[in-house]
Amino acid sequence: MLKSVLHEAVMAGAEQVVKYFNQTFDIKYKEGRNNLVTEADEASEKAIIEVIKKTYPDHHILTEESGDLPQHSEYKWIIDPIDGTINFAHGIPINCISVAVEKSGEMILGMVYNPHMNELFFAERGGGATLNGKPIKVSSETDAMKSCLVTGFPYTYIHEQNGPLQVFERLITEGVPVRRLGAAAIDLCWVACGRLDGFYEHRLQPWDSAAGFLIVEEAGGKVTDFDGNPYSPYQHRILATNGLIHEQMLKVIHNQ
Ligand code: IPD
Ligand code: CA
Ligand code: CA
Ligand code: CA
Repeated sequence: MLKSVLHEAVMAGAEQVVKYFNQTFDIKYKEGRNNLVTEADEASEKAIIEVIKKTYPDHHILTEESGDLPQHSEYKWIIDPIDGTINFAHGIPINCISVAVEKSGEMILGMVYNPHMNELFFAERGGGATLNGKPIKVSSETDAMKSCLVTGFPYTYIHEQNGPLQVFERLITEGVPVRRLGAAAIDLCWVACGRLDGFYEHRLQPWDSAAGFLIVEEAGGKVTDFDGNPYSPYQHRILATNGLIHEQMLKVIHNQ
């Protein structure tokens, strides 16, 4: 039941995303320059919440645009109605809907859908990860310096010690290809299916990574914070790799 409601919710969000893509829509600015929210983000979020509430009116919901809607429930839905809003606003088809379900503090389901590429990523804890129903696994690259990586840059805190600019500089100085796709949930899913070998970012929010990190883990990858501790989406820093380059990447991050 949870799984089918998750699927229905993600597809309801996607319907709105597709409806507004490359059309005209209102844009509002949140705190900070370039931190925007479009009419489509709000429409997608509303549609997703409606589907969940229909079956589970008493479940806790945490979303990017509406915030925390707490309830006394062991279930929490974590929603990013459009991950990659800036891409969306520019007509770049790298954006997605990301929804995860947490039960008693443990992520149990994650779904990420890019409707423009018709790619549906899904994972269930202990049940593996799939792309459009077919099992996926992480890459087998063993050398971080030969890897294709991806990252994202926050709107603030860019200049801190071992921060986004310093880590990026170290990697590109070594000639390592580092992509910047602009949607953390897609970054994670592309690591999960082996297109990319690793992803790191310094300031993510729970809705950016809640579904994607489970999908990477279930595809055989490793996800930690920057100290190698088990990842929690409630802290900002994430390193997600195929597992084989993980220790090397931790060293690059700490300049060791
Ligand atoms: C953003 C994207 C981006 C990441 C930012 C996020 P949004 O999410 O995931 O890749 O670098 O940190 O805020 O705002 O497009 O949902
Ligand atoms: Ca996001
Ligand atoms: Ca978003
Ligand atoms: Ca946003």
